[in-house]
Amino acid sequence: MTEKKIIAVVGATGAQGGGLVRAILADKGGPFRPRALTRDVNSPKAQALAAAGAEQGFEVVVATPVMEGGEVVSSTRIRNLLLAGDVTAAARLLGRPYGVKGKVVHGEKRGRELGFPTINLSVPLQRLLPRDGIYAMTVRVRDEEVVAAASLGVRPTFGGGDRTLEAYLLDWEGDVYGDTIEAAFVKRLRDELRFASAEELTEQIARDVEATRAALRDRPHS
Ligand SMILES: Cc1cc2nc3c(=O)[nH]c(=O)nc-3n(C[C@H](O)[C@H](O)[C@H](O)COP(=O)(O)O)c2cc1C
Repeated sequence: MTEKKIIAVVGATGAQGGGLVRAILADKGGPFRPRALTRDVNSPKAQALAAAGAEQGFEVVVATPVMEGGEVVSSTRIRNLLLAGDVTAAARLLGRPYGVKGKVVHGEKRGRELGFPTINLSVPLQRLLPRDGIYAMTVRVRDEEVVAAASLGVRPTFGGGDRTLEAYLLDWEGDVYGDTIEAAFVKRLRDELRFASAEELTEQIARDVEATRAALRDRPHS
């Protein structure tokens, strides 16, 4: 007999999970050997899933949670770290820096006058963004990994505005308007601040660029 395909239903527990497995079976109707995953054998939800499994003829597998620092690695935990701006800890749990994809759109072009032209990334609204601030990032531009100093926020120096993610690409020149690119948050450098003048902001951005180089130099290699 040929080996049957395995379906794992993750993140659905109890009778709801059983229903989902049933739905997949009904939809596919093929030679499947479905499996459902559960984290905790003893919870009422897991028991309902096990009962559904026995009735429907699918296997229920207990998956041991991955632990880090004495706590379960979960999407909620990672999400909360990102919302707090701790992208370094989030990267540790994810196994890589958190990344978002966005389309390069036109900004107000003020960055050019400041001496640090930026690309503005339009990220889908439903995509989680970390806490506002200035970040050292890496950006994938046409199969190349480029280092970037980026600002996520409302630019209080210029009176605030829409929340934007804009990145100054280090040692890179080119036209990427309209491209969809991926940007990864490597290290949070500081809060976004309101400067008394454009000159002061420019001086700070120059320091951010140096801090970005240092952060990317020091990062553990993957
Ligand atoms: C590394 C970096 C740090 C920045 N830090 C701040 C900041 O602390 N406060 C602020 O108001 N704007 C900050 N900005 C945003 C600049 O104000 C912004 O790049 C400039 O206004 C250009 O915006 P535009 O592309 O919409 O014209 C920062 C930008 C970069 C690239």
